[in-house]
Amino acid sequence: MNKVFVTAIIPKAGIDIFKKNKVQVVQHDSYLPISKSELIRKAKDCDAILSLLINKIDSSIINNLPKLKIISNYAVGYNNIDFLYASKKNIWVTNTPDILTNATADLTLGLLIACARKFREADIFTRKGKFKSWQSDLMLGKELHGKNLGIIGTGRIGKAVATRAAGFGLKIFYNNLERDLPLEMELKAKYLSLDGLLRICDFISIHTPLTPKTYHLIDKKKFALMKQDAVLINTSRGEVIDERALVQALKSKKLFSAGLDVYEFEPKITKELQQFENIILLPHIGSATEEARNKMAEIAAQNIVNVLKGKKPLTPVMNL
Ligand code: DGY
Repeated sequence: MNKVFVTAIIPKAGIDIFKKNKVQVVQHDSYLPISKSELIRKAKDCDAILSLLINKIDSSIINNLPKLKIISNYAVGYNNIDFLYASKKNIWVTNTPDILTNATADLTLGLLIACARKFREADIFTRKGKFKSWQSDLMLGKELHGKNLGIIGTGRIGKAVATRAAGFGLKIFYNNLERDLPLEMELKAKYLSLDGLLRICDFISIHTPLTPKTYHLIDKKKFALMKQDAVLINTSRGEVIDERALVQALKSKKLFSAGLDVYEFEPKITKELQQFENIILLPHIGSATEEARNKMAEIAAQNIVNVLKGKKPLTPVMNL
């Protein structure tokens, strides 16, 4: 019987697919990351790993699992996996694209509006009993209509954010590895260099994957280029922003607000970052809808079942 190691608790929908296909499941029954040594010990005779973004699957893990045929990541991002090394060893690496696009794009727009309209400060103010009278200058925020939104990375999620944002009357600017002509035609989006985008945008939303090239893409120099009072949203990966530079930008009141779902030192959120009341901090919940998380579990499991049956996985990150 084929055996899969599931590195943390996932929705039952995924486990059911293994049961239906007679794949034996060994599971780390926790939401916390399993240690490397325990993972190697428990997955030793497994044919597949279903991993989460909290698990770093590096070459030493791969080398210690002789039967491994597939690493199926329960996430669209796969920066936690040494996928080039896995491919060299003829091991499939898969992710869960598409099905979490809407959930993540919705959350991004939510953060953008919440930051622009001071939801966090207003909620705290109200709970503290400070709402004594309607006031002409209370909690003044920024209107979206007619403002410039800069999207960094126009993959599936970046595009879905652009579509939603256009509905709010935002003008769309984007930076991406390649020009996206359909996006330009459909939404009148304009391609800009990263520096050009940072200079003219009122709102900036990051949607690039984390790669060696995008690590600290937004650093001190990039913050210096931004407009005074810009709003920065990040629902991609924390390491794309140099958090020390972000703290400096917030300290010097360069930014009006920031909405973060991801962190450089995740799950640690530095004390320096926590001190600012004008930013919103979420616990990496971009894809956290019942629909998305169940479908992610189904696709992650189905990818494994396919490979164990000698078929191609549904969503490989690269072909073998
Ligand atoms: C992903 O899928 O990469 C998200 O960050 C978590 O859902």
